[in-house]
Amino acid sequence: MLHFETIIEPFRIKSVEAVKFTRREDRVTALAEAGYNVFRIRAEDVLIDLLTDSGTGAMSAAQWGALLQGDESYAGSRSFFRFRDVVQDLTGFRHVIPTHQGRAAERILFHSVLKAGDVVPNNNHFDTTRANIEVEEAEARDLVIPEGRVPALVHPFKGNMDLAALERALEADGDRIPLVMVTVTNNTGGGQPVSLENLKGVRMLCDRYHKPFFLDACRFAENAYFVKTREQGQASRTPKQIAREMFSLADGCTMSAKKDGLANIGGFLAMNDDAWAERCRNLLILTEGFPTYGGLAGYDLEAVARGLEEVVEEPYLRYRIRSIEYLHERLVAAGVPVLRPAGGHAVYLDARTLLSHVPPLAYPGIALVNALYVEAGIRGVEIGTVMFGHQPDGTEKVPAMDLVRLAIPRRVYTQSHIDYVAEAVIGVAGMKDSLRGYRIAKAPAVLRHFTAVFEPLEG
Ligand SMILES: Cc1ncc(COP(=O)(O)O)c(C=O)c1O
Repeated sequence: MLHFETIIEPFRIKSVEAVKFTRREDRVTALAEAGYNVFRIRAEDVLIDLLTDSGTGAMSAAQWGALLQGDESYAGSRSFFRFRDVVQDLTGFRHVIPTHQGRAAERILFHSVLKAGDVVPNNNHFDTTRANIEVEEAEARDLVIPEGRVPALVHPFKGNMDLAALERALEADGDRIPLVMVTVTNNTGGGQPVSLENLKGVRMLCDRYHKPFFLDACRFAENAYFVKTREQGQASRTPKQIAREMFSLADGCTMSAKKDGLANIGGFLAMNDDAWAERCRNLLILTEGFPTYGGLAGYDLEAVARGLEEVVEEPYLRYRIRSIEYLHERLVAAGVPVLRPAGGHAVYLDARTLLSHVPPLAYPGIALVNALYVEAGIRGVEIGTVMFGHQPDGTEKVPAMDLVRLAIPRRVYTQSHIDYVAEAVIGVAGMKDSLRGYRIAKAPAVLRHFTAVFEPLEG
């Protein structure tokens, strides 16, 4: 019997969308007009868009078919019950509250359960999670293991929570901690997984200190696949079995279905606690919609339900994780500094190390993102001082890393696209000495990276 090394895309392409080729001089103009912030560029002026893996995936024929089954009834829609049943089958949580995306679930949860001065521990908070905590005048405290803060260090579960630090926090500030969160995979820390063993450790501490434990579950399936392939004793289990165990260790979750829901929009908040669920549903009705649609169309609920079934299929996850690893391997082989090991949804370039002549407060991540766009038409995103450096009191604090994330949309790009990306990154890394930093000319107080206007620094 033949043994195949090549892991192929586990799908055929039924419908295509043309990409637009632009000239370098057009991209220079487009970037300047966008205030040197790639969030402000028109998507059609981007050749390969790696800004995010959120909502950018390709839906399957089965998902498109399911859209036609959408029941658009305001209350008690059939599509809600299908959605609820799939979510409950996977997570086991009693209450399933649909929301239009992940941050809506975060806002509803945090506004319902936090008060000023509270503390929420997490391995690493994502930007919207942090912002939704800080807007309640509470503290978002990152307690990832020390290895998770060193880009070049290889560790199989770099997203793990530092259990000793969590215990210290629970001991010192327990009365101010209404819940503990863990993000799987840990997006801000490089798309790195959290082991089942670590989740069990968090569960134990939460039991000891009587705290609810919530997962930020956006990429639960990628995390489950890493557990299967990296954690001792897990190889023979299916990703779905592992995912179910992950959820069974928690009391609830926030979820953006734009990632591992394989949908273009959608999310949910799920939990076991009746009183919290009632508070959250009341707020949902005020701002999102009736609890059986939560800001989504019936057809969105159908697409998410089907997506949650497809995402735990092993051939899909094998291809998904391998295609990111492939890009990572090519960059490592060429000596480009990257966060190691490869993440589940993205490759993270270490801009601070590559552009060591650009100080963090001159935003090396922005310099690298902008060079990738100008030289190759590729759009990535800075995850560093611009995204996380701005403090609630208006000062700037340099975070542990200045990364550039190249997030790979699900089921969208083929291997030749990824080969082009590798060639482009290696080429731009070769030009590093000519890249200059930026200053911020204008920025809002919250989530500044989305809309800030930059100016290139001279010399
Ligand atoms: C870990 C994590 N949490 C929360 C969110 C927010 O989800 P959404 O963009 O659907 O609001 C994201 C989005 O990228 C994320 O990566």
